[in-house]
Amino acid sequence: MTDRLYDVVLYGATGFVGQQTVRYFAQHARPEPLRWAIAGRSRQKLESVRATLGVEADILVADSQDPRAIDEMVAQTRVILSTAGPFALYGSAIVDACVRFKTHYVDITGETPWVEELCDRHHARAASDGTRIIPCCGFDSVPSDLGTYLVARYIQQKLGASCQTVKAYFQMTGGLNGGTLASAFNLYDSGQTDRVRDPFLLDPPGEQHTPAEIARNQDPERPEYDADIETWVAPFVMSPVNTRIVRRSSALFDRWQQPYGPDFAYQEYLKFDPPLAWLQATGVSAGMALFESIVRQAPLRRLLQPLLPQPGSGPSEQTMNEGWFRCELLGTASDGRKVKGSVCDRGDPGNRATVKFLCESALSLALNEGELPGGLERGGILTPATGLGDVLVERLRKTGMTLEVGVVTSK
Ligand SMILES: NC(=O)c1ccc[n+]([C@@H]2O[C@H](COP(=O)([O-])OP(=O)(O)OC[C@H]3O[C@@H](n4cnc5c(N)ncnc54)[C@H](OP(=O)(O)O)[C@@H]3O)[C@@H](O)[C@H]2O)c1
Repeated sequence: MTDRLYDVVLYGATGFVGQQTVRYFAQHARPEPLRWAIAGRSRQKLESVRATLGVEADILVADSQDPRAIDEMVAQTRVILSTAGPFALYGSAIVDACVRFKTHYVDITGETPWVEELCDRHHARAASDGTRIIPCCGFDSVPSDLGTYLVARYIQQKLGASCQTVKAYFQMTGGLNGGTLASAFNLYDSGQTDRVRDPFLLDPPGEQHTPAEIARNQDPERPEYDADIETWVAPFVMSPVNTRIVRRSSALFDRWQQPYGPDFAYQEYLKFDPPLAWLQATGVSAGMALFESIVRQAPLRRLLQPLLPQPGSGPSEQTMNEGWFRCELLGTASDGRKVKGSVCDRGDPGNRATVKFLCESALSLALNEGELPGGLERGGILTPATGLGDVLVERLRKTGMTLEVGVVTSK
């Protein structure tokens, strides 16, 4: 792929997150010998982004509905980074071209039914060609997936045991993008919300699960007291995305004879601190259930939509700068010992952290290709842990993000 004109093309560069990826590349990718360009459907908008941000990157114009233009763009680069979502609407032709031209790909989708379609359609060919197609490289699902990977491998390598369970507890403050809402609403409009409930939606074909396993992996639906951390937790809104990605990682590692553990299980929650933990967990759960029952009904959804942030918009600079997230992980080894880990950073998770996760994922593919897990042969519809692993962990640590593991407690 050395004959390609670019190392990375940033597709969707005019969007709310896309513009932040352009700024990130301008600030952080420059010292490296990297050739990158910005792309989207409107030349005028791309020129305006380039002028506003003062970058000199080339511009490529390709509407997602124009397969010829998409092919031309994809053929010119080693890696595509895409923020053009809803991905179920704008992403399919790009992934299709990436698989045909053997161009690595990362995005920030959380639309699991679309990811399942990619797995069905493209995994086999991408796997045999060594093309890494890695969706969900944003706040969903990098902290969950890399955090679990770090905890499970620590248990195996440092404690000499297998990993039985990992639980992740999230706390965060931040804003909401219009693009994220548009993607969620598109999921409802397309009638795919029931598929989202399958706990093993993204498992490779042929995986068998016992009824007990299925029950153990169902999404939590109400607040509960968690004795392991001695406080109240609630269902986490991103859990139906993150848990499926972590389970796909676990299933792929199983197939490559690098399992986390024979009966590995993963679950995640929103955590609340005492003394108001019960009240907050109950209030948030009730609020989420109410919101979901409203948006499930198309007429109410249409009434609500104009009142919420629109595509192209997002939180203020102040909200994005003052945001933060903390993902605390608790692993249990086969001998009962517990291992703690954490992934955390300052900045709005849906924007600042997402941009860091995504851009560093693309830079891992572009600049560290030879060090990636599984060597040059590994490909397929991968996850952050299976496709980028320790390379992404190290790159994120160098940005100042915390990714740690290692406090061991007794059984
Ligand atoms: N994983 C995470 O944590 C996370 C966080 C934030 C966002 N997201 C996801 O990222 C996506 C983008 O979010 P956002 O807030 O940046 O949304 P946005 O501001 O609405 O950006 C959407 C982008 O898609 C482009 N687009 C629209 N129609 C297109 C077409 N026909 N062909 C090519 N491009 C087209 C838009 O181009 P124009 O400017 O020309 O309209 C724009 O660049 C959403 O799916 C959202 O759910 C994920």
